[in-house]
Amino acid sequence: MAPQLQLGALAPGPLPNSTEVYPPTRPGLAAQGAEVYRSLGCAQCHTRAVRQTQALYGARLNEVGNSPNTLLLPGLGGSDPKPVNLDLLLALATIRPDLTIAPLPLPPALVGDTNIVARLKQFADNVALLKRNDTKVGINRPTSGPSVNDLAGKLPAAVFERVSIEAGERAVKYLSDAGAKAELTFYNLGPDIERGWGARRTVAQDYVNDSPVLLGSVRVGPDLASLATRAPEKFAAPWKFASTNTAAEFERHLLVHLYNPRVLAKDSTCPSAGYLFNKQKPEIRAAGEPLTVPGTDAPVFPKHEARALVAYLLTQRVDTGVAEAPVPSAPKAVPAAAPKAPMKP
Ligand code: HEC
Repeated sequence: MAPQLQLGALAPGPLPNSTEVYPPTRPGLAAQGAEVYRSLGCAQCHTRAVRQTQALYGARLNEVGNSPNTLLLPGLGGSDPKPVNLDLLLALATIRPDLTIAPLPLPPALVGDTNIVARLKQFADNVALLKRNDTKVGINRPTSGPSVNDLAGKLPAAVFERVSIEAGERAVKYLSDAGAKAELTFYNLGPDIERGWGARRTVAQDYVNDSPVLLGSVRVGPDLASLATRAPEKFAAPWKFASTNTAAEFERHLLVHLYNPRVLAKDSTCPSAGYLFNKQKPEIRAAGEPLTVPGTDAPVFPKHEARALVAYLLTQRVDTGVAEAPVPSAPKAVPAAAPKAPMKP
């Protein structure tokens, strides 16, 4: 009874930080397609569950930010002055002992600026102290190769990738304490995710609209939980889409696959659902557009059930993050500086 009481009462719920409700109600055609999927026994050979074995974390540096130790120094090659956050450079050097600490030379134009001279001297002293500590704990810093300055100069920068949550949180704390803007990132891992079968593991809420739930238990064919988000090269065949990769093209491929799986995958054991297609143009208006199957002359006409099944397959997507299984976000591009307003004549 316990699972029935816990999961049976699940209802579509609000998404974190959004006004949307997940999962959305299936459109009518797709809801009919769910019945076709059930009646044809597709769940005998296909599961609908993305499995995930692990989640790992990382730290991303988004902005250099500000600290009392931020100096405006000319960029490399004498370009416009850039803010250089000395505290951030020290924080990066502390958490990434595999990077060199490139010294910051005093720009000739600023030799007379006592404030900057003193700050850079203090920075050099701190770096020397850090190096002494490195030696004490047996860290051998490389003398050439990527430097801390390179990392701070290319934003957003992945400071850590695929580490434990403790290492990720520690890095974010160091960077934030130095006044920089940093965030904890994470990675969903597991064979299914690497195969491109979904962005995260499936959770109970994904199945709220299904009755009965057709999870499936045997994977004779690929998992279909997130079929609609699958990249063309991640299909078993692999399927070849034209460069457009539009929904209409995907729909056409699915219809061809249903009509005869051997057209797209030579030795496929997926049974043909040719009975969902008319060979002759039917006289009724419900008949869909004719479908040209590669390698055949006469077009075929998908029946309503074929269109409904495809509509259902197109709703199969596990790419929305939910509270218990978030989806990693892509790094946000740093907006380019706004162009200067043209001068009025
Ligand atoms: C006898 C087992 C079996 C049954 C039943 C079955 N399939 Fe398949 N299916 C497979 C196999 C094996 C593949 C992989 C080869 C291929 O791409 O055709 C596959 C591939 C697919 C693919 C392509 C997925 C990919 O990643 O390449 C789709 C879509 C699909 N099946 C849908 C269905 C639907 C819808 C049904 C029910 C009408 C169904 N299958 C019934 C075995 C089966």
